[in-house]
Order: sequence, then C-alpha cells, then structure tokens
Amino acid sequence: MIPLKDSAAGLYDWLERRLGLGKPAIEAAEHPIPRSSASWMYVFGSAATVLLVLQVVTGILLALTYTPSADEAWGSLQLLNHDITLGWLIRAIHGWGSDFMVAIVLIHMVQVFMFGAYKYPRELTWILGVFLLLMTLGMAFTGQVLRFDQDAYWGLGIGASITSRVPFIGGPMVHALLGGPIIGAQTLSRFFALHVFVIPGLLLAFAGLHILMVLRLGVNEWPMPGRIVSKATYDREYHELTEKDGVPFLPDAAWKDAVFAAAILLSVLACALILGPIGPGGQPDPTIIQTAPKPDFAFLWIYAVLAYLPADLETPFLFIAPVVAIVAMLALPLIAGEGEKHWSRRPIAVLMVAVIGVALGTFTHLGTYVPWSPVMEAWSGEVTPAAYLKDRTPLERQGAIVLQNKQCRNCHALGGVGGQRGPALDAIAVRMTEDQMIRQVLQGGGNMPAYGKALSPAETRALVAFLKTLRGPDNGAPATDASRSLTQITPTEKPATAPAPAEAH
Ligand code: HEC
Repeated sequence: MIPLKDSAAGLYDWLERRLGLGKPAIEAAEHPIPRSSASWMYVFGSAATVLLVLQVVTGILLALTYTPSADEAWGSLQLLNHDITLGWLIRAIHGWGSDFMVAIVLIHMVQVFMFGAYKYPRELTWILGVFLLLMTLGMAFTGQVLRFDQDAYWGLGIGASITSRVPFIGGPMVHALLGGPIIGAQTLSRFFALHVFVIPGLLLAFAGLHILMVLRLGVNEWPMPGRIVSKATYDREYHELTEKDGVPFLPDAAWKDAVFAAAILLSVLACALILGPIGPGGQPDPTIIQTAPKPDFAFLWIYAVLAYLPADLETPFLFIAPVVAIVAMLALPLIAGEGEKHWSRRPIAVLMVAVIGVALGTFTHLGTYVPWSPVMEAWSGEVTPAAYLKDRTPLERQGAIVLQNKQCRNCHALGGVGGQRGPALDAIAVRMTEDQMIRQVLQGGGNMPAYGKALSPAETRALVAFLKTLRGPDNGAPATDASRSLTQITPTEKPATAPAPAEAH
C-alpha cells in the first residue's frame, strides 16, 4: 500500500506538472513587501475581496429560491424569510454584506488615495479600482430592485424618471432599462440578469485583474514626507525597500488581513442576527401612494441632495456631477502620477477627502429623515371643495372621502386644485356613464393605475355615486349610454378581471 502522504505528494506533482499553479501561488504568498506595509492600514482591499466571496456564495443560495418575476418575487422573499430553514439568515447576511462591502470599498479607496498609492506604477490598478467601485454600487442598486417592494418599485420609478431627463436618448434609455415603457414583468428580468450575470461577471474579472496587478507591482510602501515618486528612480528604490528590508507577505502581513476580514465577517453576521433581513417592505403597488420610498444606505445621500436641491438645478446636477466625479477619479493617477505621497505634503488632497467625507456623511444622515423630493401626497392634503359636498347623500359624501383617501387628486384636479396627469374630474358625469367610470377606476388604463385590488365593492359604489354628482358648473346632463336600452347592462357589473397593478399603468 502506498502511504497516504506519498500519494498526496504524487497527486500534487501530477497536477503541478500539468497546471503549474503551485509555484506562482507560493511565490505570490511569500512575495516580499516593504516592512512598513505589513500594517493595519493595508487590510481593506483583502476585506473587500472576502466580502465579495461572501456575496457570491450567499447570492447563489438566494438564487435557488428567488423568482425573478414581477408577480412572484415578493412572495419568494416572504418564503425565504419565513418558510425556508435559515432563509432569513442568508437574506440578512447578503443584505448586510452588501452595505459592508460598499463601506469597505469606499474606505479602501480613501486609504489608497491618502497614501498616494495610485501614483506610478500603480495608475492602472487605481483605474480598475474606480470601475470596481462603480460596479459595487451597481450591484447595490440592482440588488435593491430585486427586492421588488414598495421602496424598490418607487425607487426604480424615480431612477427611470431621472434617466428620462437625459437629452435626446432619455426615452430609449428608460425603455432599455425597464424592458418597456413601464415597470413590469420585463423590468425584473432585466435587473435579475444585470445583478446575477452581467455585473458580477465583470466584477469578478476586474477584481481578479486588480489583485493580479497588486501582486505584480508590489504593495505600496508607507509614504514618507519628502520621498518623491519619480518614474526614473521609483522601481530601483522600491526594489531596495523590498529586497533589502522586506518581509514576506505570508505570514507577516497576511495574518492582519485574516484577522480584519474575520472581524468584518463577524460584524456582518452580528448585524444579520440582531437586525435581521432587510425588507421586503410592502408589496409593490402603484395605487398606494402613501409611501415614502427610501433607497438603501449607499444611495441615501443622493436622495437627500435631490430633496434639498431647487427643482431647476436637479437635472444639471444629476448629469454633470457624476460625469465630473467619475472623470476626475479616472484621470487622477494620469495627472498626479508622480510627486509626494505623504498626506502632510498634500493639503489639497486631505481637504478634498475631508469635505467629500463630511458632505456624504451629512447627506446620508439627512437622508434618513428628510422629506423626500417626490412628495407623493402633494395634493391629497387639499380638502374637497365644499360646493361639491352640498346637498349630497351620505353615500355620495362617503364617495368623496374615498376619492380623498385613495389620493385620486394626485393626478386629477377638482375645483382647479390637484395633479394634472389625468383630466380634471369636475364635469366627469357629463362625459362618462357609470359603467365607464367603474371600468376606468377598476381597470385603469391610459396611464392610470388599476384600482381593482385597492377598492372594496362598497368603496367603489360610494366613489362612483360621488363621481356621478360631478356635472360641472352648469350642471350638464348626465352622460347616457346609447346601447343601454338594448343590452340591459346592470349598473353594478364589473369587469371580470382587473390586470395586476404592477403591469397595468
Ligand atoms: C397616477 C395618476 C392617476 C391616479 C392616481 C388616478 N388617475 Fe384617474 N386617470 C389618470 C389618467 C392619466 C387618466 C386618463 C386616461 C386616459 O386618457 O385614458 C385618468 C382617467 C380617469 C377617469 C376618466 C376621465 C375622463 O375624462 O376620461 C376617471 C373617471 C378617473 N380617472 C378616476 C379616477 C379615480 C376615481 C381615481 C382614484 C381612485 C383616479 N382616477 C386615480 C391618472 C390617474
């Protein structure tokens, strides 16, 4: 019998002869780094990598149950939360892991910036890192949409309306994003494909390259005031720093990476256990307007900025600011690829980080309680004009309350006050018969959401009774249905099916 140890060694040799991965792996693990870089300040990149792996693993587990269909997504999350063993924990870890990942990637980026580590020869490593940040945010946004609850639904609506403001190609862009003119079945499939295939594929490839470059170019040395980076001398200086006075990455620096990553994983687990899974909030429903859609943590600041910005500055801000920010980040190492690395010699850089950090922090904090800039209840606070209630029966007055509570006036004016998306209702009874009104309200259509599921038969009866009293200032004759006497439609007849709200408007 061959001893186990020998056969394991034999297997290793067999594989190594064919793959040749062992030697470079050992070299990578033991490559010398500057002694000063085996530091607690250099642990964020590896922690982000560990979180990425955590997200991939928990994401695959979630995908086993999640149903990317507008009708079933919300239900499948309820299933995970309540029925499937530990489903809630996997959801919670994935949700909190995402928040941690955004935070760690940002901290990593600030650290690299402050230490001047983006300078020669690590320019491309930084540029890949900028794309990694954008993809991480892309994952956070698409993930939030997959939750497909009220927040996701309205957040997406706001995202789409922001996109639609892009000059010329705004319309087609929204169409491509939503998979149609409205948030519907196609929308969720698109976001699922983005969140599960497209972005993760790119993210893993970019992260692999990024890490490869870190290994190839070596870990950045601890900056010293006065030690200037110059393309002519850097390589030789770095070589001296690592070969003469370096330490092996494993174990000198690696143990700190491992301890920090473990602490982060434990923090994610603690948040997941104590605070539980994130959502889903209420079922998505365009007929429920008493909602304050709130994005996830990473995007709160954008909403707060929009809430405070005067309306006419919104569009320029939305399109100019991100372009400027991304171009500036990408161009940074190409413009400032040489020179001082130490923060004490780079006051403008330090000031910039401080200002951006304070601004983001403040807006994120404000984002937890500012009144949101689409004010969804804009018109529903307006009382129904008294003239419309005079001499009405109790049923008709009840109908006026339904109209008020269901916030029809967000889109329809009464007495000149109300939204303009739908026609004013002051003389609706002159234009429409009872049947037509019922059909319009229950089935929606023409950009009005269907209220079939949101109104009880009694509410519908009262609402229509009230609408029938709205005959305009000169009390026009009620609309009549020419075919009525022939076909004998009963007035309470309802359409057999109301389309699902998510797809109806
Ligand atoms: C999201 C905006 C919106 C909301 C909320 C809304 N509607 Fe509408 N409504 C519309 C639009 C847009 C039309 C025009 C439809 C068309 O052109 O076919 C319309 C049409 C109508 C019509 C037919 C009007 C006409 O002159 O043709 C009636 C009646 C009506 N809505 C009643 C209601 C009632 C009652 C409610 C509350 C339960 C309500 N709507 C809520 C947008 C809305």
